[in-house]
Amino acid sequence: MLGILKDPYFSEHQANGFVETGISLEEDLVEEIKEHYLTKALGHNDFPKFFVDNQHQAYLEGAVLGFVFNTFPGAAKKLVKRFYDKAYSKAVYCDQACMEKVLAQLMKQDFQRLFETRYIVASYDMYLRNSHRSPAAGIHTDLPNFHHFYETENDLSLYIPLVDLDDDNGGRLSVLPESKLKVAGNVLLKLLYEHFSQIPECLDEKGYVDPDRITARQMAAFIRSKPHQDLMTLYKGVIPLAKKQYAGDFRRTEEGRGRVLMFNNKNFHAAERWKNEQVDREVYVIRMFPLYDARIRLRQKLHGTPVNNFLLDMQEGVVHRYPHPVDVTAIPEAEKLRL
Ligand SMILES: [Fe+2]
Repeated sequence: MLGILKDPYFSEHQANGFVETGISLEEDLVEEIKEHYLTKALGHNDFPKFFVDNQHQAYLEGAVLGFVFNTFPGAAKKLVKRFYDKAYSKAVYCDQACMEKVLAQLMKQDFQRLFETRYIVASYDMYLRNSHRSPAAGIHTDLPNFHHFYETENDLSLYIPLVDLDDDNGGRLSVLPESKLKVAGNVLLKLLYEHFSQIPECLDEKGYVDPDRITARQMAAFIRSKPHQDLMTLYKGVIPLAKKQYAGDFRRTEEGRGRVLMFNNKNFHAAERWKNEQVDREVYVIRMFPLYDARIRLRQKLHGTPVNNFLLDMQEGVVHRYPHPVDVTAIPEAEKLRL
């Protein structure tokens, strides 16, 4: 988070793994978000879409699931679906109906004061709902995948519970501070650029790698490449370390309805079991990331829906919404972080 967050927020993130923004959404907006997502069918679950084309390499190559995926792809698909159906009664990705209002309220409450870097891309939103029957979410890191393509090790998730997550209800998030164990990620941007900048068809007229010009075959070749495989080995190695050596170092958050927490979902995190049998656990998340001087464009769509189209200007304190992905080629290099 160096160069991204200002002190004391940088230090807070380093020490705790998250930042209490001190910002709460207005009650009317919390209610509006809840009502909006009531219109989505129970059982709507977008998580399995990330498993199409074996994108979650580090998982897929894990001993058991990797074997099942490679040997019985049909059975694996069912396994993944069953897993996520159990974890969430609704998981709606990239709906973007409430995002603009939420970001506007953040800026109105001086969200920009947290940031050292000028620009942050708000990529998409997510609504998660589960009941007391869902299991707790174990220790994990949100691994990179090619649906996102542009991934950094400093992803920022706004985590906004729509119900209280506390001692009575449970469902609280815990995060492992990156001062304990950091998951490397920016090297992926380097590898993607190094690999695809060698293929003229994958470049735009400005020489930027355009993920939407990469064919499935070209992507498969990258996945097989030695540097990428080395990185996957690194990811696979770090997961057991977090689970065994650092299980006691997670910091627990306590989040009231509408309160905005910010954390890096590349850092290890977990959520305790939801205990309330009367009401469901509901969380609204916005995935954001800072911009690096990697000559890589942003993807236009996530699972068929527009994505990467909000730009937060922390200097001006404004949110720009575009009908297309943020044009990273138009942002001066001086306003980007060094990769
Ligand atoms: Fe996660």
